[in-house]
Amino acid sequence: MTQTIDYARYDRIRPIRWTGQALELLDQRRLPFAEEYIACGDSDAVAAAIRELVVRGAPAIGIAAAWGVVLAARAVEAKDGAAAAPLLEPALQRLNAARPTAVNLAWALARMRAALLLAGGDWRIALEREARGIETEDLAANRRMGELGAALIAPGSGVLTHCNTGSLATAGFGTALGVIRAGVAQGRIGRVFADETRPWMQGARLTVWELQQDGIDATLIADAAASHLLRNGEVQWVVVGADRICANGDVANKIGTYQLAISARFHGKKVMVVAPSSTVDMATPSGEAIEIEERDPAELLGVAGSRTVADGVRAWNPVFDVTPAALIDAIVTEKGVVDRPDEASMRALFGA
Ligand code: MRU
Repeated sequence: MTQTIDYARYDRIRPIRWTGQALELLDQRRLPFAEEYIACGDSDAVAAAIRELVVRGAPAIGIAAAWGVVLAARAVEAKDGAAAAPLLEPALQRLNAARPTAVNLAWALARMRAALLLAGGDWRIALEREARGIETEDLAANRRMGELGAALIAPGSGVLTHCNTGSLATAGFGTALGVIRAGVAQGRIGRVFADETRPWMQGARLTVWELQQDGIDATLIADAAASHLLRNGEVQWVVVGADRICANGDVANKIGTYQLAISARFHGKKVMVVAPSSTVDMATPSGEAIEIEERDPAELLGVAGSRTVADGVRAWNPVFDVTPAALIDAIVTEKGVVDRPDEASMRALFGA
């Protein structure tokens, strides 16, 4: 069942815009009620935007950081790329430190560094070309993953997704949400559920809004309703993105993914992880080696800016968790699908 996907209908939002002078980022803290772009004029403004979740989602923060390097280059005078590299390194380090878990950030900066070292006198143009390439390749990867992932889903299925993995989290179309878009367009997916994804509410504020823009019927559930849903037969696949995929197939993704995967396995449902190869980190052997970002506990102490918790209460706010490979049925990348991932099947597709 193949069908051309109408990307103009299923991919309308762009979170990152390069104007030639500045990087404009759609302020995701204000969605869905205000669509405002913030203009970043230097790399430190981009680093702050990544840290504060103006821009978020693993591929999107890599792309934003790449454009941040282009902005940093404006403050540097050098005769060629090799001379510019050490001068730009402090800005790259500050971008890299903005968030620790998603490997796409370090991956994009490594690409920018490599492009710089190869560049001659036109090193600024080379950096801009590389940033544009990272963005364009991400969009193409998402479209390919949409086809590959949707092909795994039997017609008439229901899916549950977590966090936001759509156009807002990528160069466009999305990873897990791209598979859902493709599956709906092809008539394979009949029911879409998205959970709220507390505490930042990426599912409630972003995912169901994106699906609404497409005219895709979706139902929001409380995070705590997921097991009840998975038991009742309406959902056959849990489809999620990733922030880092290890050499043994362990996956770091938004907090709550692990419990969804446990519940899916218990109820005989399948788990699909959808991520570009820029999220695969073969240098990290297993999930234990991943740094899990912990954000301000204040994110847990209130809802929509109003405090809900008594003064003096302590809170812990890890924002990612690791799902062991054993709980994952398929990892979908633009390079192909890894079924029942383990170290051997990961190495077969991604090498050393
Ligand atoms: O904290 P966030 O919103 O950046 O977390 C995003 C996620 O965990 C996504 O699932 C992941 O980055 C994949 S996005 C295509």
